[in-house]
Amino acid sequence: MSGSSSRRRLGLFYITPALILSLLLLWFWISRHHEQPVIYPPPRVVDPAKPEIVREDWDFVRDARNFLMTDRRCDEAFPGLFKEIDRAVEVRKESHVTKKELDSIKKVRGYMRAMIYDQQLYVLDAAEKHINMREQATLHAIHRAIITSPEPLPNIEFVFMSDDIAAGTSEAKWSYSRRSNETSNWLMPDFGYWSWPEPKIGSYLEVQMKATAIDSKLAWKKKQNKLIWRGASLELLVREQLVNISRGHEWADVKIFSWEEEAEKPESKEILTMDQHCAYKYVAHTEGISYSARLQNLQNCNSVIVAHKLKWLQHHHHLMVSSGPDQNFVEVNADFSNLPETMENLLANDEESERIARNNVKTFREHYLTPSAETCYWRKLFNGYATVSFEPEFFDSKGKWRGLPVESYVLERQLNWKPH
Ligand SMILES: *[C@@H]1O[C@H](CO)[C@@H](O)[C@H](O)[C@H]1NC(C)=O
Ligand SMILES: *[C@@H]1O[C@H](CO)[C@@H](O)[C@H](O)[C@H]1NC(C)=O
Repeated sequence: MSGSSSRRRLGLFYITPALILSLLLLWFWISRHHEQPVIYPPPRVVDPAKPEIVREDWDFVRDARNFLMTDRRCDEAFPGLFKEIDRAVEVRKESHVTKKELDSIKKVRGYMRAMIYDQQLYVLDAAEKHINMREQATLHAIHRAIITSPEPLPNIEFVFMSDDIAAGTSEAKWSYSRRSNETSNWLMPDFGYWSWPEPKIGSYLEVQMKATAIDSKLAWKKKQNKLIWRGASLELLVREQLVNISRGHEWADVKIFSWEEEAEKPESKEILTMDQHCAYKYVAHTEGISYSARLQNLQNCNSVIVAHKLKWLQHHHHLMVSSGPDQNFVEVNADFSNLPETMENLLANDEESERIARNNVKTFREHYLTPSAETCYWRKLFNGYATVSFEPEFFDSKGKWRGLPVESYVLERQLNWKPH
């Protein structure tokens, strides 16, 4: 055995474990790296003391979580978003909202009366019965829009209703949805933009991050070539129509289930999380008791939304386009009767479907349904409403505070309690 070859072997004896160790370290580093929460843009550095650099363009990575946009920047970043506010202002231009009008609104379940005064949010009155966590979610969202505002906001007093249906009378009420004939309602962003904890859909940013994570792992071509829908029947005709017309078709994965029954089964395969919907190329949407808050979550998937003709409007529905180069969803008849032809057609034109899905993500997840868009919308709502409404009084006739600061209300969830 020559000296040099034994030295070489000795070298290999040291080098091989070192190489294996480095590879292991690299592997650990890479796998750890993959465990980081995804690719959702970090907040941009904004110096409120400096005037905003106004740019025409929208940059998702830079702007998505910027809560500090000025009114002017909001207009530039979100053209067309505030259509519902302009409409509601127009309706009240000749007859402004009065205090007496707000006094006459019935205190039904989900009723909440509040006031913005000197950039602070106060709760004035609330119904005994809450609707899940919705009032809390909406108060938090309003509060966030106030405390992040780089510009002063007007003093206003308003009533919002957190029930699915909040119409039928002509007083000015803020609500999550309206039928097209319910023109006196002012549309506000849904409670889910803060969080929808009951079905474990979670906070809105969580929905966006999880959808983005699935879509970054699952290319369009790898998604299930099917239409997915899971939901409670709620004895709604339109849901039964969807299930019936889909029955027996290879492209359909459509089922009604009962939350209660499924929740009993430890490993239920039927309850899908919102991001699991993103694994399908096609996702069906139906209305619920009125609108269905599922829509804005599905709009986070790089998938094609197939919806029946909707009767209920939310603050962003006018941005949904059902034809042409900017098409971002597919609309079928109100009773789903033309769903089979529509699905055959979509399946036969995969590139077309991919384009519609991409437009869906570009329009909603990456633009009009970002936290910055929501915040802009709230502040536009405060400002628009103020132009056609009365200026509230801070004190009542006895000189007492009318409102309870929101900071205490969100902790106590009531207006009165015994000190202890
Ligand atoms: C709107 O239309 C629905 C059904 O078409 C009706 O039940 C309701 O009363 C109408 N509401 C208003 C405010 O006109
Ligand atoms: C759906 O199908 C079931 C079972 O065939 C039937 O009883 C029901 O009437 C159908 N519903 C509708 C709305 O067509």
